[in-house]
Amino acid sequence: MLQRTSYLTKRYGDSDGHTLAVYERDGGYQQAKRALQMDRAALIDEMKAANIRGRGGAGFPMGVKWSFMPWPPKPEKPHYLVINADEGEPGTFKDRTIMEKNPHSIVEGCIIGCFGIGAHAAYIYVRDELHLAKARLWEAIAEAKKKGYLGDKPFGIDYPVEVYVHTGAGAYICGEETSLLNSLEGKRGEPRLKPPFPAQAGAFGMPSTVNNLETIAIVPTALAMGGDNFSKLSAIHNLKDGGARLFGVSGHVNKPGIYECAVGLTLRELIYDLGGGVKGGELLAVIPGGSSCPILRAEEIVKAPDPKSPLHPYDGKSVLDVPLGVDTFRSLGTMLGTCCAIVLSDLADPVLAFHNLLQFYRHESCGQCTPCREGSAWLFRILDRIVQGEAEVAELDRLSEIASNIMGNTICAFGEGTAMPTLGFLLKFRRELEEFIVTKGKSGTRRLAL
Ligand SMILES: Cc1cc2nc3c(=O)[nH]c(=O)nc-3n(C[C@H](O)[C@H](O)[C@H](O)COP(=O)(O)O)c2cc1C
Repeated sequence: MLQRTSYLTKRYGDSDGHTLAVYERDGGYQQAKRALQMDRAALIDEMKAANIRGRGGAGFPMGVKWSFMPWPPKPEKPHYLVINADEGEPGTFKDRTIMEKNPHSIVEGCIIGCFGIGAHAAYIYVRDELHLAKARLWEAIAEAKKKGYLGDKPFGIDYPVEVYVHTGAGAYICGEETSLLNSLEGKRGEPRLKPPFPAQAGAFGMPSTVNNLETIAIVPTALAMGGDNFSKLSAIHNLKDGGARLFGVSGHVNKPGIYECAVGLTLRELIYDLGGGVKGGELLAVIPGGSSCPILRAEEIVKAPDPKSPLHPYDGKSVLDVPLGVDTFRSLGTMLGTCCAIVLSDLADPVLAFHNLLQFYRHESCGQCTPCREGSAWLFRILDRIVQGEAEVAELDRLSEIASNIMGNTICAFGEGTAMPTLGFLLKFRRELEEFIVTKGKSGTRRLAL
């Protein structure tokens, strides 16, 4: 159901929308002040009722994550809130817009989040190359500090809160929460083994909560509305996937961009109503939520899926009409991820798109785990030989074998992030891959890369 909202995006078109004056005009910082005077358990209950599913990709319930923090905090073990604004997932560009156009919602979310988890400091981890985003965050923090909303006594209340921006050099792996923590500590950006989970030993070895930037930016809205009311915005409220969120669409669509809507928007509405439809040609396939999510072919999404199919147990509707939700998309054999869809037109060559994707994963593997380091490079080498016209059809099975051996054999989910799209492309585009190999890429006229 298409229901546009403007909680985070209201001031996106306003050239002063990022300033404190404009944020306060719209009621900004009232929820931070209110939260600091609330009972902590009541605040967490509101967040749980809001059913905010983490916007970083895994969709973990945000209020539940906050409740994992040890309580009460021990003086020798300070708690930290860490905000993940690395946003390296191909096709995902929503957090950047919040930092550039609505940075005070992040600062306010940080104050509420710090109080909720018993922290006095929040670190926002952002890519160094995002110059405007960094500048806007720094400016917002300085404005809030000057006004007395941050510091020793925010709003005159005895609960010190500081917010820091920490820049990273730009590595996809540093978006994985434990690599991010290592990078924050000045160490090499490599994932840590879990357990211990960040709530036990996170930043600087202290109990920490890592939240995606959009997850934290929507907190003031959820608190202002009340958890229940916020959750009920969603058309799939019964699946505990609440509220409104930013949906992205890019690739071969007429109007790529970020659109804020109530949760429950369908893929059809995202691609055709908001994205303006497929640009050049017809719909070939969609990667629903960032490049790590297995691809869906047009044939399987325009028709009602077969309820008996193990791939598509979701009953009754065309996939295009399935509400975009964490659980609904899991039941389709793919993932919602960051909720930023990449659309491929049938003028595109899926083999070249696959090649492009594997080049990314080969480049971004941190190299710590052998199956991922060797596997991602091996996958790319085979795809490269396919594209060069040097491979044989039998090597497609080798791709599948390598990907399957990466899955589950790495410290972090980067392994799955590489293997799942690989297995998805092999399953959905086997015919095109075989044709490409046999004809050495000369059969098709499709040459538009992703
Ligand atoms: C390879 C990899 C890259 C990731 N990149 C990001 C990222 O850029 N931003 C993000 O918020 N989460 C990213 N995540 C997910 C984080 O590990 C973590 O789940 C998330 O920050 C938690 O926040 P949330 O619960 O609010 O979604 C990544 C995970 C993996 C495995």
